[in-house]
Amino acid sequence: MSKTGVVYVCQHCGWKSLKWVGRCGGCGEWDSTVEEIQTSHTGLHSKSVAFNRELPQPITRVKSPECPCIETGMKEFDRILGGGIIVGSAVLIGGTPGIGKSTLLLQICQNISQKGYTTLYITGEESVAQTKLRAERLSILSDNLLVVAETNLDFILENIHNTHPTMVVIDSIQMIYKSQLDSSPGTVAQVRQCANELIYTAKSTGSAIFLVGHVTKQGIIAGPKVLEHMADTVLYFEGEKSQCYRILRVVKNRFGSTDEIGIFEMRKNGLQQVDNPSEIFISQGRRINTGSAIIPCMEGTRALLIEIQALVARANFGMPERKVSGVDYNRVSMILAVLEKRIELKLGGQDIFVNIVGGVQIDEPAADLGIAMTIASSFKEKVIPSDMVVIGEVGLGGEVRNVNQIEIRLKEAQRLGFKRAVIPKDNVKGIGKEFGIELIEVGYLSEAIEIIG
Ligand code: TYD
Ligand code: MG
Repeated sequence: MSKTGVVYVCQHCGWKSLKWVGRCGGCGEWDSTVEEIQTSHTGLHSKSVAFNRELPQPITRVKSPECPCIETGMKEFDRILGGGIIVGSAVLIGGTPGIGKSTLLLQICQNISQKGYTTLYITGEESVAQTKLRAERLSILSDNLLVVAETNLDFILENIHNTHPTMVVIDSIQMIYKSQLDSSPGTVAQVRQCANELIYTAKSTGSAIFLVGHVTKQGIIAGPKVLEHMADTVLYFEGEKSQCYRILRVVKNRFGSTDEIGIFEMRKNGLQQVDNPSEIFISQGRRINTGSAIIPCMEGTRALLIEIQALVARANFGMPERKVSGVDYNRVSMILAVLEKRIELKLGGQDIFVNIVGGVQIDEPAADLGIAMTIASSFKEKVIPSDMVVIGEVGLGGEVRNVNQIEIRLKEAQRLGFKRAVIPKDNVKGIGKEFGIELIEVGYLSEAIEIIG
């Protein structure tokens, strides 16, 4: 075999072949071989990008980096990264096309370069002129922000070595190719190899690297998913393109907590952080409506007030409809069954719609009681008081179970001026201090439904 050749490796068992084969000769799996570069050493990285050889040393003698973290000037972004951009870290940002990845990263580059750091923006999808147009729109003017349109990996690595940037953006990893590999850009082989070499180069030169990865509609990508294990931090952009709010969710972070979210608003001059996220998810006219409740949900370490709406209307013909958006359909079905069986609400012949205001997704059981109460409220045509929040998980027996982090939830509700909270009985002993909110303890769903009358 040549010193650096290409081999086809089965992704299931590691069997290798010099030619592409449809079926693995080792485990018999179909279409499982992926092209990889075989080097004479470890096979992972070429000589030019290898780490300097190091000897083991006591951890106490390892020098901490001088500037462990650079603030980006966007508090939401810094917070989810764990304080700011960590020097030498690799961050993967995934999201559907058009959600705002390039916009956000260009803005971050601008903020960093204004502080005197060099940033390098490598655009593989747009020309330099198109990037300039976007930069003008975002009022970006900094000589420390370098831009280059390049997709060849070797030239990119050379650029990184020559410019010594503090931050590099690769937009996007699916466009980058290594010429030694025959596969086209965006394939698993290319994406993995290129990302590997880019991350090694960034770590050895002390640059923070941001890789943009597009997520396809199905959520299966030759990109973000195959790269998650290589990156230190993985962020996903969520939100509807038609709406202006964008949620940046942390799914992995070696330097901070996961499950954090940052909320941004897409304006005509770029992404702006949202300082008071709870307010945007509560609709304005809610005070007069039946079938609406406010629930404090946990998003990472932060509580967010979210409005749930339900509409129960008699079905005119055929099978009644059940439509749910923003919460799990199965969870709602379970709550409906509990309402029918334990509370004896006759929901059988009713169309039922459940919706979360603002296009957010919630997947925590603490929303159960809120969902149950909005459905009952719409069915009975009784309003849930506008100064009340609802917290609790509902069990199959109709019992209301306790939830985690009750204090943080109550604090957020109090901050936004709510006066009453329906909470699980079991949670009461966990509440240490007064929140200035009247606590209404419930042990069973029936007690909660009685509140709405
Ligand atoms: P973009 O960052 O190009 O998305 P991605 O890189 O994730 O594919 O975002 C493009 C969208 O954002 C596009 O629909 C236009 C809109 N946009 C604004 O609303 N305001 C702005 O200032 C900018 C730059 C883009
Ligand atoms: Mg883009």
